[in-house]
Amino acid sequence: MSIILEMRGITKEFPGVKALDDVTLSVAEGEIHALVGENGAGKSTLMKVLSGVYPDGSFDGEIVYDGQPRGFRSIRDSEDIGIIIIHQELALIPLLSVAENIFLGNERAAKGIIDWRETHDRAAELLARVGLDENPETILDDLGLGKQQLVEIAKALSKNVRLLILDEPTSSLNEDDSAKLLDLLMDFRDKGLTSILISHKLNEVSKVADTITVLRDGATVARMNCADGVDENDIVRNMVGRALEDRYPPKGDARPGDIAMEVRNWSVHHPLHPERRVVDDVSFHVRKGEVLGIAGLMGAGRTELAMSLFGRSYGRDISGYVAINGASADLSTVRRAINAGLAYATEDRKTYGLVLDDTIRRNVPMADLPAIARNGIVDRNREAEVASEYRKKLAIKSSSIEQATVNLSGGNQQKVVLSKWLFADPEILILDEPTRGIDVGAKYEIYTVIRDLAAQGKAIVVISSELPELLGVTDRLYVMNEGRFVGEMPTGEASQEKIMSMIVKSGEVA
Ligand SMILES: Nc1ncnc2c1ncn2[C@@H]1O[C@H](COP(=O)(O)OP(=O)(O)OP(=O)(O)O)[C@@H](O)[C@H]1O
Ligand SMILES: [Mg+2]
Repeated sequence: MSIILEMRGITKEFPGVKALDDVTLSVAEGEIHALVGENGAGKSTLMKVLSGVYPDGSFDGEIVYDGQPRGFRSIRDSEDIGIIIIHQELALIPLLSVAENIFLGNERAAKGIIDWRETHDRAAELLARVGLDENPETILDDLGLGKQQLVEIAKALSKNVRLLILDEPTSSLNEDDSAKLLDLLMDFRDKGLTSILISHKLNEVSKVADTITVLRDGATVARMNCADGVDENDIVRNMVGRALEDRYPPKGDARPGDIAMEVRNWSVHHPLHPERRVVDDVSFHVRKGEVLGIAGLMGAGRTELAMSLFGRSYGRDISGYVAINGASADLSTVRRAINAGLAYATEDRKTYGLVLDDTIRRNVPMADLPAIARNGIVDRNREAEVASEYRKKLAIKSSSIEQATVNLSGGNQQKVVLSKWLFADPEILILDEPTRGIDVGAKYEIYTVIRDLAAQGKAIVVISSELPELLGVTDRLYVMNEGRFVGEMPTGEASQEKIMSMIVKSGEVA
């Protein structure tokens, strides 16, 4: 196979951080090349260098593509020769149609007038190529995340892609959608397309990759050939520099105590379509010292349940009863919910989780400012102490606590969101997809934090689409489907098959 891409001696510095230090990457034409490494290792940065997001001259080293040295001044330059990147956070516009999104910035137009006929016809062709059976005029927001991801790929195909870069394309997808996307990539490979895949899901990497490059602390530490199969543990060893014995900390034998929160007959309607019941008569409880899991498919209503409980942050016509420590609780605003001892760490770190332009120092204590205030004024020294403490505790990789969260790597942003709610020290903590985009080593650290909180008597609710994670970290599980709770069991009696069959059966009854 010929080499389509060589990156040599790539070094990229930001103020106070050397994100890449003499990195080499060599990709063969027609292969799926995986790029793996811990949070902050430099994966996204390397791909931004490659795609011209960071223009020529803003880094050291050389890029040879298709036999020629290249210097890109912008994304346009790299796109012109077929290098297309799909970023870690989707870059589509929710309220535009699928077709409009596909041709955004690349409109099908003559003399400044958009040719809608052509736009829709071409979009339909591209959707067919990615196996998406949707009308091009559908508003993007009406599609699930899995389908939106396919729209991104259709958009890439519209630009005559030769090298497709996917930065964590499956991090927000359920297993089904992830599998479909990976199948599509393998199908593209058969047709000669080269791709670079960044992922923390090592099972996916070992399934599809031909070659793996491992980055650690901004340097290339290994190149693994997968022709004869690859062992996930070997990847982990290269990533973290040591073997990781277990993926989950021991649960210990602590007995859950009294009921911390009880929810009865909770129903929530869709904010825009009041006739739709998104959460339908749900009752559940969580005990002190217990880690409770809520399993379900994407769209089952789990986030809506959590957000509606947390200060009615979602939905309308909410009804039901909540008791905390045995007494009826007022959770009608976020402030009241926090005062009642409840916290919710969002799955959507960019929109709800962080004040992006602000520093780590300001974000971490944000959910409990009174705790660091004196006479109603935030004590800047306390603020810095708290932020430093959590930066250390969760190993948040950054130049200092003064770094703006917008510049942190995806996984490290997630750690800041978690820090914020840990600092608020709630009695009941709801964690929504707490390890999305987090590397294997850091996942273990987060599971340890969860188990420690439970051991201190906190009640923890984990919403996760990764069943192995729920099985590994929780004590008891509910299964949610289409707005309703359709099963409950101690985690010790649960299995992936059992949970999936509960979901499928409940769908048949409905
Ligand atoms: N614009 C920026 N300004 C300052 N520092 C930055 C900037 N972009 C990235 N960094 C730093 O560079 C390092 C590498 O970040 P990068 O986003 O490439 O990591 P990553 O490997 O993609 O991690 P993740 O798996 O969490 O997405 C991190 O320490 C990050 O904080
Ligand atoms: Mg990244």
